[in-house]
Amino acid sequence: KPSLEDTLLSAIRNIPDYPKPGIMFRDITTLLGNARAFRRAIDELVQPYAGSKIDKIAGIEARGFILGGAIAHQLSAGFIPIRKKGKLPHETVRVAYSLEYGLDEMEMHKDAVEAGEKVILVDDLIATGGTAEAAVKLLRQMGADIVASCFVIDLPDLGGRARLDNLDVPVRTLVSFP
Ligand code: PRP
Ligand code: HPA
Repeated sequence: KPSLEDTLLSAIRNIPDYPKPGIMFRDITTLLGNARAFRRAIDELVQPYAGSKIDKIAGIEARGFILGGAIAHQLSAGFIPIRKKGKLPHETVRVAYSLEYGLDEMEMHKDAVEAGEKVILVDDLIATGGTAEAAVKLLRQMGADIVASCFVIDLPDLGGRARLDNLDVPVRTLVSFP
């Protein structure tokens, strides 16, 4: 049986010069389309939390929704969508965060989480950590207890893990690319 790392690495597609020249884009659509790789990734991400009581999974738009939904099901937890601004219909909390060029904003419904609830944050990939940090701010503003954050892919050179370490959010990732 191939190792977890080999299974995942061979299921992730690498696209040079996307979305810009010089960027090697790590495309997880091929991993999601591979039943074995998708299941192994989910099983491995939830493994440390099996048996602990997690109230909710917070997934970051867009790819964090796909992984987060599967993880929520497996842990019998609820799901919280954290979305780009203007997409959620009820009262929200909002936070600005920086992207490579300029600023964007993310939102979460105010009633999506109750104070003290145990939450795991999920996304496909952590690069600079700016997106995940914004999600942490939204969740903590409503009093969530963030137990961990989970990503399939880490780009460690971009510093995201260190940024979440500074916020005292444990980080779990499965594969990393220099
Ligand atoms: C990607 C990725 C993470 C984020 C990571 O999403 O899915 O959410 O970037 O980058 P960071 O750690 O530097 O913040 P993207 O912004 O491309 O949005 P999308 O999933 O809606 O396409
Ligand atoms: N893949 C997907 N999302 C990303 C990447 C990548 O390589 N880099 C920053 N966000």
